[in-house]
Amino acid sequence: VADELLAEISGLVGSKQEAAWIIEHARGRGLEGAAARARILAERRAAGEPLQYVLGSWPFRTIELEVGPAALIPRPETEQLVEVALSRWRDQRPGQGLVRCVDLGTGTGAIGISVAVELSEETAVELYLVDRSAQALDLARKNAERLGVTACFEEGSWYQALDDSLEGRVHLLISNPPYVPDEQRGALDPVLGYEPAEALFAPQGRDGTAGFGDVEAIIGESIRWLAPCGILAVEMGEDQLDAAVRLGEQIGLVDLSCFLDLAGRRRGILAAAP
Ligand SMILES: C[S@@+](CC[C@H](N)C(=O)[O-])C[C@H]1O[C@@H](n2cnc3c(N)ncnc32)[C@H](O)[C@@H]1O
Repeated sequence: VADELLAEISGLVGSKQEAAWIIEHARGRGLEGAAARARILAERRAAGEPLQYVLGSWPFRTIELEVGPAALIPRPETEQLVEVALSRWRDQRPGQGLVRCVDLGTGTGAIGISVAVELSEETAVELYLVDRSAQALDLARKNAERLGVTACFEEGSWYQALDDSLEGRVHLLISNPPYVPDEQRGALDPVLGYEPAEALFAPQGRDGTAGFGDVEAIIGESIRWLAPCGILAVEMGEDQLDAAVRLGEQIGLVDLSCFLDLAGRRRGILAAAP
């Protein structure tokens, strides 16, 4: 019976591996009715819904996150963003004894929650998770609670969501903001149509760089919020890196470098406050 179900679900979703995950997920909620539940999930997948939303959870670095249509599905390049930010923090260790970390545009909470979980054995972390979307913030709250992470959840647009008392006191400022150029709406992979548009698309920057508006806002004001030697790490599109480095230099950030994704493309900047 198990082989027959695997064959049936594989036929629906076009992949034996995905079929196995779907069946495992359906069985996780009890053997009774599992085949019927697997068929319903497989039909959603066959209709084009991303596997991550169909399963309802997805791994990110060391944690398993609840995912859903309120927030972007966390990507492997963002795991890399966390990797380089943690590695820079371990080299420089701003915030002796307490790391104050802000994740701007937190979505599922992937970045901030990972930082808190991974640094928990080395230091205390005071975590701020910011998003303009109340639904995304609800998801981040659920994920943080399930993973035993304490955080402040701040709803609003970028730095406006933060209390002024944080100015000049942030040791680790990390963000994966929207950076797909607005002009590409409609021309992208249909799977992206399931993810919230406000998590993906951004206007052009004031300097004319396509899709750079949000990255520009985050880098541009970062120096006001960073503590001395505080670290900034921002993911962006490959074509936005030159503009980001120029802006970082203009506003006085130091130790600027670019980091690469797993495919070897430049995908973000790391910098520090003087
Ligand atoms: C690319 S998604 C990143 C989600 C998550 N950090 C990750 O890496 O998987 C960008 C997030 O920024 C949020 N966002 C977009 N514009 C914003 C703004 N002006 N202020 C705060 N958050 C914003 C979106 O709701 C979305 O959750």
